[in-house]
Amino acid sequence: MYGRRVFACLFSLLLLMPVARAAGDAARGAQAFRICAACHSVVPDRNMTGPSLAHVWGRKAGSLASFDRYSPALQRSGVVWDTASLDAWIKNPAAFIPHNAMTFPGLQDAATRADLIAYLKALGEGKTLPPTAQGGMGGMMGSTPQRPDLKQLKAEDTVTSIRYCRDTYYVTTADGKTRAIWESNLRFKTDSSDLGPHPGAPVMLGAGMAGDRAFVIFAKPEEFDAFIRRHC
Ligand code: HEC
Repeated sequence: MYGRRVFACLFSLLLLMPVARAAGDAARGAQAFRICAACHSVVPDRNMTGPSLAHVWGRKAGSLASFDRYSPALQRSGVVWDTASLDAWIKNPAAFIPHNAMTFPGLQDAATRADLIAYLKALGEGKTLPPTAQGGMGGMMGSTPQRPDLKQLKAEDTVTSIRYCRDTYYVTTADGKTRAIWESNLRFKTDSSDLGPHPGAPVMLGAGMAGDRAFVIFAKPEEFDAFIRRHC
């Protein structure tokens, strides 16, 4: 009888231990956030594949007004983001809220989860964080990748016309060069955010590399028609 109670006590202590250890470190969390940064920014209302996490701490799940792509599952979950709910979510999103739309397998390492949560909490409290976390210059190992400002690109990236003939797009840029790209390797996108291109000045990205895929990004979809001319 007594022995069983002691055992139960020890057992719950064991269960509590990881929680007691879980005082995460926000600065380490800022580094770990690169796991999330492909889909999330920490700039208020800068939404990507996922919603901005700038003020996620204490927020009701699925409630950021500027994000239009929440799953019904997340919106209906009734979850409020705090240490316990964030931990369960980051550990295994599909188990915590089935049918959600975050295609992330989950992070098994409890210490890293605690660091991430400390970071999101610090952000929510408006604490000052290392520059890597706030989106300084991206691209380096260990820093948060940043989207480029498409208004700042060079002439060689600014598209002036696009001609389509048979199976090929001929994309001419402001430096006078024309590149021939197989239609299957060219994607057209829009970026209506403050980082998007100037209206009427779409930009091309990725064409210089392996030549197997490039993007032309317009300010708005109405420009597709205006730019792409079929002519052989
Ligand atoms: C592949 C893209 C992707 C990755 C990687 C990703 N997320 Fe998400 N995240 C999403 C999407 C999409 C949603 C919206 C899910 C939904 O509506 O069901 C989301 C939602 C969330 C939410 C809920 C926000 C809200 O407003 O309710 C939190 C919190 C979150 N993610 C944290 C993280 C953290 C922390 C990481 C890194 C460990 C991460 N995510 C990695 C795409 C991603």
